[in-house]
Amino acid sequence: MALLFMSEWDSADEWTRMLRDHIPDLDVRVSPDVGDPAEIDVVLAWKPPAGAITSLPNLKLIQSLGMGVDHLFVHPDLPEGVPVARLVDPHMAMQMSEYALLWALHHHRRIEEYAWQQIEKKWKQLRVRDTRKTTVGVMGLGVLGGDAARKFAAVGFRTIGWSRSAKDIDGVTSFTGADGLLPFLGETQILVNLLPLTEETEGILDARAFAALPEDAFVINLARGAHVVEDDLLAAVDAGHLAGAALDVFRDEPPPPEHRFWSHPKIRMTPHIAGLTHAETGAAQVAENIQRVRAGKPPKNEVEPARGY
Ligand code: NAP
Ligand code: GLV
Repeated sequence: MALLFMSEWDSADEWTRMLRDHIPDLDVRVSPDVGDPAEIDVVLAWKPPAGAITSLPNLKLIQSLGMGVDHLFVHPDLPEGVPVARLVDPHMAMQMSEYALLWALHHHRRIEEYAWQQIEKKWKQLRVRDTRKTTVGVMGLGVLGGDAARKFAAVGFRTIGWSRSAKDIDGVTSFTGADGLLPFLGETQILVNLLPLTEETEGILDARAFAALPEDAFVINLARGAHVVEDDLLAAVDAGHLAGAALDVFRDEPPPPEHRFWSHPKIRMTPHIAGLTHAETGAAQVAENIQRVRAGKPPKNEVEPARGY
């Protein structure tokens, strides 16, 4: 039985080495060199090509190389009954919270404005915003959003969060469901998006959502580009309603050279690096899941296909 590695981003050699620390005789094939498709029982994938998974008749597990799974569920032909599992990596949660805090504080302490002042050799002290009176709103209070919200609250921000089910997180006010969205946004001065991408959340950050945010709010998107209606974001920033945005993810990655984000003075971009998959911490989880499915047990961190996350 063999594992098929499918990713253009991650190093197959590094993963193979790390996985063999746990399963020394693991047979690893690297896509597109599948060998005999009937020998593949596990797929380890980030953005597999269409149809590539369907053609594997003896699959026991589809394991995401990331914490998200939308890149797998975009394929309507995933084999039925084969479990899909995701990574749940505390190392990645730490990176994501660092990223959110970095941009929130960058905006909150007006570092962007000081950077422009420096270019103009201008020496002017700006009003310091009161952290306790500034509300950070975290969309999605799962593994990543929950960690970020806890850390924002610990720094002293008034912290609120929005999720499907109610949460009881120390120092974090919980808003839920469709009815809770606009009231949540209405109080959010720094928005951190950590939702999974599903049919329900695609395009959730649109003109209506931006209009609901208070004047001068700042948007941090580190979940998926397709959560944002990019033209609506640009319109809200250009109209002066939003102070700006820090974006790690985009509808097209990379965005085309003519995309307005590249040169917009109020948009800061990074190339999907907020939380990078870490072979060292991920391999132990993947190896455990391989051993579990080969022993006839369900994998850990299995995703519900009907829910999409
Ligand atoms: P998770 O543990 O599954 O948590 C998802 C959260 O979103 C949950 O709180 C869930 O509510 C909430 N949610 C889902 N659908 C909702 C809806 N329709 N309305 C309101 N709330 C909804 O996910 P995670 O591990 O925190 O990861 C979140 C996302 O981060 C991933 O899916 C991925 O897209 C992204 N990500 C990005 C990077 C990067 O480098 N930029 C790295 C890793 C992950 P309930 O708790 O009520 O279910
Ligand atoms: C990265 O975006 C992930 O989903 O892990």
